[in-house]
Amino acid sequence: MTVEQILEALRSVQEPELKNNLVKLNLARNIRIFGDRVQLTVMLFSEDSPHREKLKQEVTKALKQAGAQEVDLDFEVLSKKEQEILAERIRKEHQEKVRAKRAGGRTPLQQEDPKPSLLSEDSDTVFISVASGKGGVGKSTVTVNLAVALAREGKRVGVIDADIYGFSVPDMMGITERPAVVNKTIYPVERFGVKVISMGFFVEENAPVIWRGPMLGKMLRNFFQEVEWGELDYVILDLPPGTGDVALDVHQMLPRSRELLVTTPHATAAFVAARAGAMALHTKHRILGVVENMAYYQCASCGNKDYVFGRGGGEKLADELNTDLLVQIPLGAPENGNPGDPDFSPSVYGSETSTGQLYRDLARKVMERV
Ligand SMILES: Nc1ncnc2c1ncn2[C@@H]1O[C@H](COP(=O)(O)OP(=O)(O)O)[C@@H](O)[C@H]1O
Ligand SMILES: [Mg+2]
Repeated sequence: MTVEQILEALRSVQEPELKNNLVKLNLARNIRIFGDRVQLTVMLFSEDSPHREKLKQEVTKALKQAGAQEVDLDFEVLSKKEQEILAERIRKEHQEKVRAKRAGGRTPLQQEDPKPSLLSEDSDTVFISVASGKGGVGKSTVTVNLAVALAREGKRVGVIDADIYGFSVPDMMGITERPAVVNKTIYPVERFGVKVISMGFFVEENAPVIWRGPMLGKMLRNFFQEVEWGELDYVILDLPPGTGDVALDVHQMLPRSRELLVTTPHATAAFVAARAGAMALHTKHRILGVVENMAYYQCASCGNKDYVFGRGGGEKLADELNTDLLVQIPLGAPENGNPGDPDFSPSVYGSETSTGQLYRDLARKVMERV
């Protein structure tokens, strides 16, 4: 079975109260396919929803008709924030409907696959480009964890993995699926509440980097136009490192984007990052701030901080760009189980870990600043 077939089947299932299908309402999540066994989570509006049984029967029936032998369904309840967001969306759509009725037209919900354009002038989506002067400083790690932290705060978040030299976001988040494509519309893969699109989903594993460059601009445009993102509060972009043509292209395509710069504490790294920052200023991107990654190593038994990669790089960079050092992330990889576990993700820090909390602080600062 393919995700595509599954999504189509789920589109035939209505949420009884909200009167719309599970896909459109984004209530079917964590879809996983193991041969002809399908696993998924259906989100309920409230703990005491009277529709559990009905939904279970209908989803199971639809998926079996689509070819699944076994359906493994569990329920989760939307967080308060998500409830509010959905309620707000339904309220808006209802208003539209009333308005359309008066005007005798069709409502947005009746139209087939509306294609929201994140790039349109009146979109409220905030773009954040994560940039660094060079590779290996933790740009992708910061992208992924900032996105997850914003989602944990109840925001609707998308990630675009546009680092053509090494798309790593799917692996870092433990994503094994590929996006579904229905009638030319691409559906991002959702993981930890974040919608993800990666160049890596579409480029052949060993394709030479040399022709990836020219393709990037075109693909990015497609990511905005042909991907059904739904409504998003934030889109975080993992950009190629440095200040090459490719990065410049992206900068020009997203004039509204804010820039988050990642550096290590080493003085040279900060110097290199400053060039990327200077370009952001040049292209009139607003700089959100600086993240210093691998800032120190904290001894687990004595709590002492060891500044193994030097000190001051983040501060220096922030000074140079007239912005602030938002957070210092220590060295240390997350502990997230083993490949195959449902929550396995090599690079996402748990919300309760000390680094997870630093990312939560970062997310809150970002929310304040935009
Ligand atoms: N704070 C950190 N502590 C330990 N390892 C880290 C940290 N941040 C990143 N890493 C690791 O360093 C490597 C490079 O990070 P990555 O996010 O891929 O950098 P970039 O995207 O800038 O190339 C990865 O293996 C990543 O897991
Ligand atoms: Mg990277």
